[in-house]
Formats: sequence, C-alpha cells, structure tokens
Amino acid sequence: MSDPATLLAAAQSARAGSYSPYSQFAVGAALLDEDGRVWTGANVENASYGLSMCAERTAIFHAVASGVKRFVACAVAGPPGVTTTPCGACRQVLNEFGPRMPVYYEDAGRLVTTSVDALLPGAFGPAQLDEARR
Ligand code: THU
Repeated sequence: MSDPATLLAAAQSARAGSYSPYSQFAVGAALLDEDGRVWTGANVENASYGLSMCAERTAIFHAVASGVKRFVACAVAGPPGVTTTPCGACRQVLNEFGPRMPVYYEDAGRLVTTSVDALLPGAFGPAQLDEARR
C-alpha cells in the first residue's frame, strides 16, 4: 500500500514526463489502484491548445486502458510551491472511477487530503444514467 506522502512523491516524479512547452506548467498525477499498483501521468500539451490533456486524465486513461477501473487514492503535483488541485474536467473524470477516493496535494509545504466528492459536490455520474434506464 502506498501512503499519502509516497503517492504524492510519485506524482511529483511523474512531472518529469510532462510535455508543457506552452504553459511551462508541468503537472504529475499518481493513482493508487485496489491492488496497490501506482499509475502515473503527466500533462501533455498541443500546439492546438484545446487538445492538451491534464496529468490526472493521462494517468486515469492509462490505467483504464490497461484494465484497471477502480482506484483508492489520487495525488496531484504542480510546480514546487504552487498549490495544484485537479481542474474541473479532471474532477468529473475522477468521479467516474473513484467518487469517494482521497485526493492529495501540497499546499505551502503541507500535504492536504481532500476527496473527489468534496471537490465535486452534487456530481453527475453513472448513477443518474442507471436511474434513467430503470
Ligand atoms: N493541468 C493539469 O495537468 N492538471 C490540472 O489539474 C490543472 C492543469 C495542466 C493543463 C495545462 O497543460 C497546464 O496544467 C496549465 O493549465
């Protein structure tokens, strides 16, 4: 099992994979799955700016495309000293695969623990679609 500090360190290391020539804002993310495996990702930008992909979604899509769909924790890291939390789009995608999972990030040198449901209250998710099908 990965503890919060270890998962955050994995997110910080994952920043090395960032391709962010336009924003110069490298982000790394790390997701812990139910089997204790860690999936990492970094933001990948594009000359057509809107096609850029955040670190969190890069990590999730890598894991999901590898057959892993349930996660127990997530960590996000931006540039040192910059408090970096998941953007709105990433909150929605995180909600799909771990609505109650803790989310770790650093703020003023301290590890902060929040959760997907705290970051995205009243989320729209699979439950609403299931309800409509009934
Ligand atoms: N970014 C992420 O990768 N994750 C976030 O949650 C916040 C923003 C990226 C997107 C873009 O490449 C850069 O940071 C600046 O917005």
